Amino acid sequence: MTNETVVERRYWELLVLGGMERLPTKNSSYNNKEYWDSRFYSEEEYDWLGSYEQYQRHLDDLLHPSDQILMIGCGNSTMSSNLHFSGFKKVTNIDYSENVIERMKKKYSELEEMKWYTMDILEMKFSSGSFDTISGY
Ligand SMILES: C[S@@+](CC[C@H](N)C(=O)[O-])C[C@H]1O[C@@H](n2cnc3c(N)ncnc32)[C@H](O)[C@@H]1O
Repeated sequence: MTNETVVERRYWELLVLGGMERLPTKNSSYNNKEYWDSRFYSEEEYDWLGSYEQYQRHLDDLLHPSDQILMIGCGNSTMSSNLHFSGFKKVTNIDYSENVIERMKKKYSELEEMKWYTMDILEMKFSSGSFDTISGY
């Protein structure tokens, strides 16, 4: 499946499979922290780029279990927990919405090596060289 087909399918999933009410009235809302805060107030989980299984083959090739992984703009995606369950445990997650970070911290509290921080991508507070892999979308 080409990237274009995946994006197109995702669009139709959003429209057809009950995601219509989740779409903001303007695309510019995606650039608005209040939009994410209010969305994460009630939404339990959503994977914007698809499921972990879709990428697992490539991720298994690219990652090493000892890697320190940084997920920027993690949202409430299942990608980080699935990485953890697949043996890539050292996942640090940041998002500027406190609502989602608090929710995820509680949800995955038993996964001790997973870290969750409310942090703006534009003002990250990690020392240089802290991570082997950075993922964001
Ligand atoms: C399209 S969602 C993707 C969420 C998740 N990565 C996924 O794939 O499902 C974008 C995420 O980036 C976060 N975000 C946007 N701008 C940010 C910023 N400047 N700093 C931190 N997080 C940000 C939003 O709160 C939201 O969770």
